[in-house]
Amino acid sequence: MKVFVTRRIPEEGLKLLERECEEVEVFEHDRIPSKDEIKRGLKGKDGLLCLLTDRIDRDVISSNPKLRAISNYAAGYDNIDVDFATERGIVVTNTPDVLTEATAELAWALLLAVSRRIVEGDRFTREGRFRGWSPTLLLGKELSGKTLGVIGAGRIGTAFALKARCFGMKVLYYNRSRNEVLESRVGARKVDLENLLRESDFVSIHLPLTKETHHLIDYRKLCMMKRDAVIINTARGAIIKERDLIRALRERRIFGAGLDVYENEPEVAEELKEMENVVLLPHIGSATLETRTKMSLLAAENLVKALRGEVPKYCVNPQVLKG
Ligand code: GLV
Ligand code: GLV
Repeated sequence: MKVFVTRRIPEEGLKLLERECEEVEVFEHDRIPSKDEIKRGLKGKDGLLCLLTDRIDRDVISSNPKLRAISNYAAGYDNIDVDFATERGIVVTNTPDVLTEATAELAWALLLAVSRRIVEGDRFTREGRFRGWSPTLLLGKELSGKTLGVIGAGRIGTAFALKARCFGMKVLYYNRSRNEVLESRVGARKVDLENLLRESDFVSIHLPLTKETHHLIDYRKLCMMKRDAVIINTARGAIIKERDLIRALRERRIFGAGLDVYENEPEVAEELKEMENVVLLPHIGSATLETRTKMSLLAAENLVKALRGEVPKYCVNPQVLKG
């Protein structure tokens, strides 16, 4: 088994690969490889371990007729042409589950940061502008008794929403299927997207990026939200139409936004950087030591199992395994 890894990941996974594979080539620079660099590394390999920043399209996949498995070091896999990989009998795996809590926690960190103007307050204090307690300084939004709207109630959306109980919030969710865990544990109510947007004080997105969810939240939808609502996105940037979000924030149609992801990463719109009521993070939802170590091991295990013809723990195109 020969594999190419597109970036140095935490060592646990690399060690596992080195133990199990005949050759492990790791892209040696600490930056995103170009398409040609990926194709070059992939030459003669059976397996690829890649990141969400690598676009694994038809062109890359077909550049190596030997390729049998692609292991994505991420839960989301919108960076990979899975249909094409499936056509060619290539197994595609991902790393959900191990990053659920880390991402749910980060969504709450963003929600609290926007609502209580934490980053703005930090800047204010560092700039030496704190002249003593004030009755009207940096007034924000309280969580207690408010309504939380969760768009997408999969693993992360569920973990996120379960924590709403600590804050005494009501929970609405929008999801294809019913989520009985949320209904029984936090009294959550399943609603359609428009009602969720109209009734929620805080909205958080936890969907995968697909053709159906691309630009799901546009200007019209943002205008359905309460004028003092907060929107949080830790999923994928393109689920919100970013130009429309900028317009809605400018026109004060909502209170603020907390973003960990962007439509054209790593580009961040200048307009967003200039707004005080927006908290911006560099896609760090899963960035805890614990989670990244687990992701590294899981991505390596998935790749080794797929190459051995065994069933990997998380496969996104299991039809290939059966065939
Ligand atoms: C992170 O965004 C992931 O999909 O793992
Ligand atoms: C705030 O610090 C208070 O004591 O009310």
